[in-house]
Amino acid sequence: MLILGIETSCDETGIALYDTERGLLADALHSQVELHALYGGVVPELASRDHVRRLLPLLKSALRTADRKIGDVDLIAYTQGPGLGGALLVGASVAAGLGVAIDRPAVGIHHLEGHLLSPLLADPRPEFPFIALLVSGGHTQLMRVDEVGHYALLGETQDDAAGEAFDKTAMLLGLGYPGGPALARLAEQGDATRFPLPRPMIGSGDLRFSFSGLKTAVLTRLRSLEPVDEATRADLAASFEAAIVDVLVAKCRDALAQEGLQRLVVAGGVGANRRLRAQLEKELAKVGARVFFPPLRLCTDNGAMIAFAAALKFSRPPASTPSFPIFPRWDLAEAAAQSTPRR
Ligand code: KG4
Ligand code: ZN
Repeated sequence: MLILGIETSCDETGIALYDTERGLLADALHSQVELHALYGGVVPELASRDHVRRLLPLLKSALRTADRKIGDVDLIAYTQGPGLGGALLVGASVAAGLGVAIDRPAVGIHHLEGHLLSPLLADPRPEFPFIALLVSGGHTQLMRVDEVGHYALLGETQDDAAGEAFDKTAMLLGLGYPGGPALARLAEQGDATRFPLPRPMIGSGDLRFSFSGLKTAVLTRLRSLEPVDEATRADLAASFEAAIVDVLVAKCRDALAQEGLQRLVVAGGVGANRRLRAQLEKELAKVGARVFFPPLRLCTDNGAMIAFAAALKFSRPPASTPSFPIFPRWDLAEAAAQSTPRR
């Protein structure tokens, strides 16, 4: 079965072709980073318009790379939510339109399900059950994953998501948008022990997170240190990154212990963070657990994870869906409870 994956939930246009026999044949991506950088964050209307411009050229290029024709596609999978309403609508309507044109079904995929199944695209592939740490710009969640379609939320952030905390702190440090990768690069030159920042909720005894106080802690330090030289900014970046990583690692360890599991899967944009990767490898090895990451390029938003999630959920194309509702806010555990995989 050849599956076309379409991702347009935020500021990345992703198109991929996944063959259930041969694997990933093409994975085309256009990042809107430059478009939004001018405004210091994603401008939803500009995002939607850019998806409109990019989708069909990307589709053509993916088909060329895969040496396939649009008529070869058996199933179209698109991100149905959560995400920006207008951006989701572009992907959903292109999927529905293509579906009508080539007489193939279009199915909606939960964006977070795409992220959390993406480590299964890697080698070695983790076996079920596992704990998933979803760390993106909009979400920080720990989930227990028993099999495809069976997800239980164990804990999540009470305020800012980890990626959001990276982005907001990067802004305070004058790093612009998108801040996460820039802050991580700056942190590599800094001393993570210079500023002992709080580790919010690290000892809360549950699996909840809170990151909004961390950026305030950075802001307070910044104000007391002004004017701030480059080395101090790097030390602040490193101290912030260390604080957030310590909390994420501790809660992952707690989640594994609570559920009696020894496999952790990390997904979402912050999963690209080198310090998080290294600390998780090191700390989980101590308790005999293993951590699995998606390939770096699949950590952030992409079409491959959407096509791949559809491949895991559908063993053959389902009956055609006539409408295409989207869900800008969409709880994964609730969604999974309502629809077990159709086989
Ligand atoms: O999963 P993703 O591409 O989009 C969402 O669904 O949110 O994640 C984007 C988030 C952004 O907040 C970005 O700053 C963060 O992931 N991010 C990073 C790194 N690379 C991306 N945060 C920390 N370190 C990185 N290397
Ligand atoms: Zn995402």
